[in-house]
Amino acid sequence: MKVGYEFSKESCEDPVMKGELLLLSSVMFLLYVVSGCPERCHCHSFSKSVDCSQQGLVEIPSDLPPQTLTLHLQDNEIHQLPAFAFRSVPQLITLNLSNNSLSTLDPGAFHGLQHLKVLNLTQNSLHSLENRLFHSLPQLRELDLSSNNISHLPTSLDKPWENLTVFAVQQNQLQQLDRTLLESMPSVRLLFLKNNLWKCNCHLLGLKLWMEKFIYKGGVTDGITCASPDTWRGKDLLKIPHELYQPCPSPPDQVPSPAPQPGSARGAAPSLPEDRSALAECELKAKPRPANLRYAIATFIVTAVVCGIVGLMMLVATIYGCAYAAVTAQGHGGPLAPTNQPGKTAGKELLDSPAA
Ligand SMILES: *[C@@H]1O[C@H](CO)[C@@H](O)[C@H](O)[C@H]1NC(C)=O
Ligand SMILES: *[C@@H]1O[C@H](CO)[C@@H](O)[C@H](O)[C@H]1NC(C)=O
Ligand SMILES: *[C@@H]1O[C@H](CO)[C@@H](O)[C@H](O)[C@H]1NC(C)=O
Ligand SMILES: *[C@@H]1O[C@H](CO)[C@@H](O)[C@H](O)[C@H]1NC(C)=O
Repeated sequence: MKVGYEFSKESCEDPVMKGELLLLSSVMFLLYVVSGCPERCHCHSFSKSVDCSQQGLVEIPSDLPPQTLTLHLQDNEIHQLPAFAFRSVPQLITLNLSNNSLSTLDPGAFHGLQHLKVLNLTQNSLHSLENRLFHSLPQLRELDLSSNNISHLPTSLDKPWENLTVFAVQQNQLQQLDRTLLESMPSVRLLFLKNNLWKCNCHLLGLKLWMEKFIYKGGVTDGITCASPDTWRGKDLLKIPHELYQPCPSPPDQVPSPAPQPGSARGAAPSLPEDRSALAECELKAKPRPANLRYAIATFIVTAVVCGIVGLMMLVATIYGCAYAAVTAQGHGGPLAPTNQPGKTAGKELLDSPAA
């Protein structure tokens, strides 16, 4: 080794250096080829990013380099993500799926993406998202779900999404958003909610109160514009005074959820606290209590009167019955006569027996 090096240094330095460089680059090239780059993508080994955008892809390419940190899949026609879709790229930090054809996501689609920080799902056709989906992305900081058809988001997450700072759901079909979901994102600073179908009734009151606190603490939002009821259409939710909310009718009237009120105790358990708080907030504005009380009192009085009359009639009947019995007994020589008869005979027998 040493001899060879000295030799090369003495005689023909440049060609050997070139050879080494050539060897090095071919090794790198080999490594690159072994780790692979999908046919329709451009792989940048230095930045560890892979660009597969605008290629008419309908599914995730299978041979992605495992060390990929950034994956551009935007502007394709990917219409579904199976469970563990990104199993081959566990280091991923940024995933761009914007402008695809996703309408559903398998709840395990992002399993294994422990390091993902940015997920862009904007301009797809998603209509709902599941609680479980979020759990596979503990490190996520930015989630862009804007410009989809989402009408339903989970009411809460089982554990807080600690690092999420940007949450974007503008341009969707949301009518309602549970404040407990936002409470599961303690670090959120940027919130995009505009252009949904916000239904500004008492169910949105919790969100309004949360938003007021959020803005007070320095959070930034594009705001909530009511789409219904007609009274509030086009109005800013934050500018409607609390006092003007209509009372909520009854809990089962809430947005259709998989765990309805009359369900089993187990099924209803997780959603019970927020339902109760929503109900409490709504009842705060409602004034049916005095009426209810009056109704209860009236019912009680009516029942008491009816019971009293029936009782009185029964008493009268009893007294009448007894009196009638007594009168008849007196008229026929009293009811004691027949009972005295056997006593007398017994006495007679008793008297008779010593004589006999
Ligand atoms: C979305 O992707 C398609 C290709 O699939 C492209 O033609 C279109 O311009 C993209 N739209 C936007 C808004 O980027
Ligand atoms: C994703 O793709 C869109 C459209 O090309 C682009 O605007 C956006 O910056 C990309 N990156 C991320 C992180 O979303
Ligand atoms: C996602 O992509 C859109 C364009 O399609 C872009 O406007 C937006 O900023 C991106 N979101 C994030 C969080 O990078
Ligand atoms: C949030 O980010 C910090 C700093 O990067 C990290 O240490 C922590 O583990 C993250 N939290 C979760 C739940 O992953």
